[in-house]
Amino acid sequence: MKAAEGIRVDEVSMAYGSSKILDGVSLSIGKGSVITMVGPNGCGKTTLLKIINNLLKPDRGRVFVEGREVNSMPAHRLARIMGYVPQGHKISFPFKVRDVVITGRMPYIPAFSSPKREDLEKTEQALVLTGISGLADQSYTQISGGERQLVMIARAMAQQPSVLLLDEPTSYLDFKNQILTLKMIKEISRSRKVTVIMTLHDPNHALMFSDEVVLLRKLNGSRAGNVIAFGPPHEAITPKNIQAAYGVEVEIAEVKGRKLLLPL
Ligand SMILES: Nc1ncnc2c1ncn2[C@@H]1O[C@H](COP(=O)(O)OP(=O)(O)O)[C@@H](O)[C@H]1O
Ligand SMILES: [Mg+2]
Repeated sequence: MKAAEGIRVDEVSMAYGSSKILDGVSLSIGKGSVITMVGPNGCGKTTLLKIINNLLKPDRGRVFVEGREVNSMPAHRLARIMGYVPQGHKISFPFKVRDVVITGRMPYIPAFSSPKREDLEKTEQALVLTGISGLADQSYTQISGGERQLVMIARAMAQQPSVLLLDEPTSYLDFKNQILTLKMIKEISRSRKVTVIMTLHDPNHALMFSDEVVLLRKLNGSRAGNVIAFGPPHEAITPKNIQAAYGVEVEIAEVKGRKLLLPL
């Protein structure tokens, strides 16, 4: 990977009070790839996403995006590069879908100004990209959970980011909407050359939808580090690594050339 491309997480450590969550995490992520972070609850996935997005400052280590250190960039500059969809994001005011998506243009609209034509155009493009143009005039509070997740992705894409961070984008979604959302995320990454980093709960989804997988463990006081494996899905998600991350025995089955994780 060229230094100026993609994302580099360099020896990042983080503690909340006296409990250390991340210890010396280093990752090098190529531009345009889909990276999935998996690991047990509380292992630090959300913390790491927030550090990458400069919402949290790590105790040690640095994060570079496209060659620039994230904490050296003003928030509105960083927001033009990175879109962030937090976990279970909810808006309770009945805004129209289009009005939610246009808030993604905030980093481009000067204070006290109204959206310009370009902002409206990018908003419409983001609605088309995520396949929700038909919902544009509906109230955000009256659409389904799957649709709301697409609205949040559209809002992030209206920022025209080159990096999209998604925290558990499939939580709370039914089976069909999980698959639709993951396919949409992969399609956006491919068509827009957007680097995606997302956290997922299901290692099988990570097997199916990622270019590379980061498998993390809880430190639990050990000095072995968080990253059990980082690489192509089939190399990272092995029975041995899943045992190390979750303490669960699994086997890998192969169906028509596709690999599947099954608990024993
Ligand atoms: N603001 C905070 N203050 C104290 N502890 C926190 C805070 N945020 C997260 N934690 C703790 O840090 C650990 C990692 O949290 P998190 O990054 O949310 O993990 P994950 O997303 O992998 O479930 C958890 O034990 C959580 O309780
Ligand atoms: Mg989390």
